[in-house]
Amino acid sequence: MSQLTDYDNAPKTDHAYDGIEEFDNPLPGWWKWLFVATIFFSPFYYLYYHSGASGRSVEDTYGIALAENTRLQFAEIGDLKPTEPTLVAYMHKPNWVRVGQSVFKANCISCHGREGEGQVGPNLTDEYFKNVKSIEDIAKVVNNGAGGGAMPKWSDRLHPNEVVLVSAYVASLRGQNIESSRGPEGGKIPPWPEPIEEDEETPEE
Ligand code: HEC
Repeated sequence: MSQLTDYDNAPKTDHAYDGIEEFDNPLPGWWKWLFVATIFFSPFYYLYYHSGASGRSVEDTYGIALAENTRLQFAEIGDLKPTEPTLVAYMHKPNWVRVGQSVFKANCISCHGREGEGQVGPNLTDEYFKNVKSIEDIAKVVNNGAGGGAMPKWSDRLHPNEVVLVSAYVASLRGQNIESSRGPEGGKIPPWPEPIEEDEETPEE
């Protein structure tokens, strides 16, 4: 049967401060040793995951998984060329525009803003462009850079398919006219071409 603790006779430590005493209730041995074990474990953990060896941190494994997933997705579409028909076609494929958006989020928002509304770089949601006259020019600017390097070149940092998809995403932003500190820059350009109707349905026999 459990009983109420007899505080007066419970074992106490032999120190007292201003009459305040402390019960002698040591931590259980297993707890203490677990604590000591985590301390010994930590330098090995630190060296393994944070010493800078690549491919080990959570961030790296995430990046590897992401790249793997992108490769699988790209196997589906083959090698895209940054031509007008391809860009126009992919601009109208919402699933692929979303992939382009994730490339944009990862690489471009620091200069062009979260929604492409412009910051260091120009607003990409209006009708005015400095370096772009046709939809293909978007991919050219992304590949080669512009403004004497103020807009970096991405041809050696992005997969050619990523360039096409991020360009298709940028093309899709046009016309949203999001307000920003960047006013219109460059000239107003003609609208993007209409997509060529794809025959999705083959006639049945
Ligand atoms: C370091 C900042 C920076 C980053 C990062 C950046 N840009 Fe730019 N971008 C600029 C600047 C600055 C310009 C304007 C260049 C000029 O003055 O001609 C520009 C221009 C452009 C243009 C042409 C706009 C026009 O009006 O002609 C496009 C399209 C573009 N960027 C797309 C992108 C995409 C897509 C990415 C990501 C892959 C990206 N940018 C990343 C700074 C950046």
